[in-house]
Amino acid sequence: MTQHKEEWGSKLGVILAVAGSAVGLGNFLRFPGQAAQNGGGAFLIPYFCALFLLGIPIGWAEWAMGRYGGKKGLHSAPMIMGAIGKSGLARYIGIIGVLIPLGVSTYYMFIETWTFGYFLKYLTGGIGIDPNASIEAQTAVANAFFDSFTGAGADGSLFHGDGLRTLLTWVVVFAINVYFVFRGLSKGIEKFVSFAMPVMAVCALVVLIRVLTLGTPDPNVPENNVINGLGFMWNPNYEKLGDFKTWLAAASQIFFSLSVGFGVIINYASYMKKDDDVALSGLTASATNELFEVGFGGMITLTAAVVFLGLSGTQVAVAGGTFKLGFATLPVVFAHMGWFGNIMGALWFLVLWLAAITSSLSMYQPAVAHLKEALDWSHGKATGFIAAIGTAGALLTLWYSAGGTFLNTMDFWVGTYLIFLLAMAQIIYFAWVFGIDRGWKEIHTGAAIQIPPFVKIIMKYVAPAYLLIVFIGFNIQSFASELKNATATVGARVGLATIVALILYLVVVTAMGEKRLRAAGVDLDDDKPAT
Ligand code: PFF
Repeated sequence: MTQHKEEWGSKLGVILAVAGSAVGLGNFLRFPGQAAQNGGGAFLIPYFCALFLLGIPIGWAEWAMGRYGGKKGLHSAPMIMGAIGKSGLARYIGIIGVLIPLGVSTYYMFIETWTFGYFLKYLTGGIGIDPNASIEAQTAVANAFFDSFTGAGADGSLFHGDGLRTLLTWVVVFAINVYFVFRGLSKGIEKFVSFAMPVMAVCALVVLIRVLTLGTPDPNVPENNVINGLGFMWNPNYEKLGDFKTWLAAASQIFFSLSVGFGVIINYASYMKKDDDVALSGLTASATNELFEVGFGGMITLTAAVVFLGLSGTQVAVAGGTFKLGFATLPVVFAHMGWFGNIMGALWFLVLWLAAITSSLSMYQPAVAHLKEALDWSHGKATGFIAAIGTAGALLTLWYSAGGTFLNTMDFWVGTYLIFLLAMAQIIYFAWVFGIDRGWKEIHTGAAIQIPPFVKIIMKYVAPAYLLIVFIGFNIQSFASELKNATATVGARVGLATIVALILYLVVVTAMGEKRLRAAGVDLDDDKPAT
């Protein structure tokens, strides 16, 4: 290959980059929304089961596969999966590992834009909520601002009038992303995350402390207090455990949040040195994600919501959409903090924005790496091309903004459904085709910790079976209705067409890549027969 070798600047760099990819809007918006919609504390049992039986073990497999691919000079999920899975089928399934990050980026960038827009708004005086009005009136103002900023009124409304502000914000946010991806792995992504992660942690801590010291703001409603807010999240509710949907939602949340099953970790780990630790690194990245998700995302958002809206008010707020807690409920809370409220608001949306950008940076890198590897393109050319695809995807999301039908189609099929498929393929190829004993050795090469041996059983039997059950249940429960949704409106149909177009494009690039790499004498196959 003609490109010079890319690699991380330091051992900490890759951990921060994976943690940056993991910690994102999934932690601060999706997790609290899912938890509230699925019964608060009830959600946490299936959530932690999914973390320990799926997220962390499959994450380790991904880290190890990525580093293994890197040793062969491969960096894209299709080529690495092809070697691990010893087949062309595995290689083409690996396409999903480029499709997911790229597909998710089309709408993720849109939400990232909202966070930046809100941040600017709070820096310049807030969103105009009058703390003396009734809670209902305040919530109405917050909702109206949200609807106008996000173009919920009508398709195309962001392309004129007030909506143009959102479009402009998107241009800035997208340009920042492209800039850092263009700068490259260690000078761009690693530099940015090394600065953003600590800043984000400090700001989130400040907001958390403020929320935990809210006490009982309205003495007339003594049950709306911090202790009940924490109880909402931490008191288990065993009744909900019988509901299959809760298990499904928890598993989806774990994958989305940890960035496991996406092709991102495979790609990032492929730039490690051949003896760099993956066992402790994977665990550290997951633990960091959980700190931000449960410790910051959940405890800030859910506690604040219950303190000001009560339990039932919180349920009503999330019924309006998963994102409502972060974008409509918290602004009402900030309005009650006096002069400090706007600072809190700015800090909160800065946290969201930094979390979002460290994630969105990881969505382009797999696609850029795929083009460079398959077509021998330069970094600049590959980045430019992916930026063009990203722009087209974002314009579609921005245009079909009413009701989020384009966004919902992408989020369901790419950001949920395909994640299950890829995660399943990854763990089966790793544990059964590459071979669990060999995989175990691979994970422990250069490892700073010894993983307890029972995890081997989880990887070989428990995780695939768990995924299979959830996936089958998922299909029975949602496939037909989701397919109907995906063809019900123009925005949804355009979403589906975009996914199909992306798949076709990735198939062609992968086929060309295989041909080119083989001709160049690159070893695309696993070097050992199946065990
Ligand atoms: N893990 C990110 C979050 O929790 O917000 C989301 C994400 C990152 C999605 C990277 C897709 C991706 F490629």
